[in-house]
Amino acid sequence: MLCAVVLLRLEFNMQRVRVALIGTQFAAQHAAALSKFPEKAQVVAVCSRTEAHARAFAEKWNVASWTTDYDALLRREDVDAVHLCVPHDLHAPMTIAALHAGKHVLCEKPIALTIEDADAMLAAAKSAGKILMVNHNQRFVEGHVMARECVQRGLIGAPFLATAAFHMFHLPQGFRADAQRNGGGVVMDSGVHWLDLLNWIVGEVASVQAVGGRFAHHHITAEDTAVITLQFKNGALGQFTITWAMNGKTMFEPLKVLGTHGTLRVENDRLTFETREGKLSPAELAEREPWAREVLQRFEGFTGRDSVRLSVEHFIDCVQSRQQPLITPEEAREALRVALRVNEAMGLRGV
Ligand SMILES: NC(=O)c1ccc[n+]([C@@H]2O[C@H](COP(=O)([O-])OP(=O)(O)OC[C@H]3O[C@@H](n4cnc5c(N)ncnc54)[C@H](OP(=O)(O)O)[C@@H]3O)[C@@H](O)[C@H]2O)c1
Repeated sequence: MLCAVVLLRLEFNMQRVRVALIGTQFAAQHAAALSKFPEKAQVVAVCSRTEAHARAFAEKWNVASWTTDYDALLRREDVDAVHLCVPHDLHAPMTIAALHAGKHVLCEKPIALTIEDADAMLAAAKSAGKILMVNHNQRFVEGHVMARECVQRGLIGAPFLATAAFHMFHLPQGFRADAQRNGGGVVMDSGVHWLDLLNWIVGEVASVQAVGGRFAHHHITAEDTAVITLQFKNGALGQFTITWAMNGKTMFEPLKVLGTHGTLRVENDRLTFETREGKLSPAELAEREPWAREVLQRFEGFTGRDSVRLSVEHFIDCVQSRQQPLITPEEAREALRVALRVNEAMGLRGV
């Protein structure tokens, strides 16, 4: 009996994904996420540029080993996957090195800073036969999933107008204050989440127009505010406004999709579906539509604040089951392509 328990334990341990976290700032969100499902994953190492940061992080999160040497970490056989929580200009080289070393990769957004780099990452994942997921965690917010399903299932007919906003105060520091390393300003950093969402919910973007400005953060050489208009391949129009310069405390991030048969609003992470006849809450929609019931069950007990936890868990599930993540690297490349178009339209060529 004891023997059977030991064997079961061994098997359980063998199946756990052994993760190394790279970076020690936003990486704390990944550590917090991973701590919620210890039966599936274990953080075995952390790597940061600064020794003191790596050591303090390891102590705080009870990680057995820390290093400042990324290449040495990649040589370790007891690491199955790396989570890259590092400046944007390091996403491509660190991802490619990890894939070549036979590791699965969860890379923070944006996938890279150029299409050439993104393509090299996709090719490296393919040739290594390893999973590459980019952390577009807004895909793990109940209201966004409901909106995507409503559009896919034809509930609103043909989408013809989408509006989104992301307004907050954020002081860009470190690599974010360097347009070369960040890949631009607010659009390449926070905006790429929304460009991915619009692509996922409404459809592929055909063309963009954009203007950008700097209103609060004169120390950066890119925009802290932008107004973007989009035309989608399916003919729908879109508008997205984004700023890090808001003089106010309450983050504003509504999303609206208007279709020929109905309208979707996502506010405070929840969806409302309405037509001229009336409105349906998510619970009312779930009474009518079995798929909506399933989505609500999936998100029961979670809010939009849990999206990183859910996306990290999804990555770990995919590594364990060898399934392709819901967010494909091709879609992450597409979000980057649109962000680069926006940069161009704002006159940020070459940043
Ligand atoms: N999904 C989201 O909602 C979300 C939110 C925030 C950030 N992010 C993403 O997370 C990533 C990191 O952002 P952040 O806010 O954590 O940036 P940050 O505060 O500038 O921290 C960057 C981290 O990378 C580490 N680093 C830099 N160069 C390194 C190297 N050569 N080897 C190992 N570690 C290195 C730094 O180490 P030291 O501290 O030791 O210098 C630091 O811990 C970015 O891609 C960002 O877009 C995503």
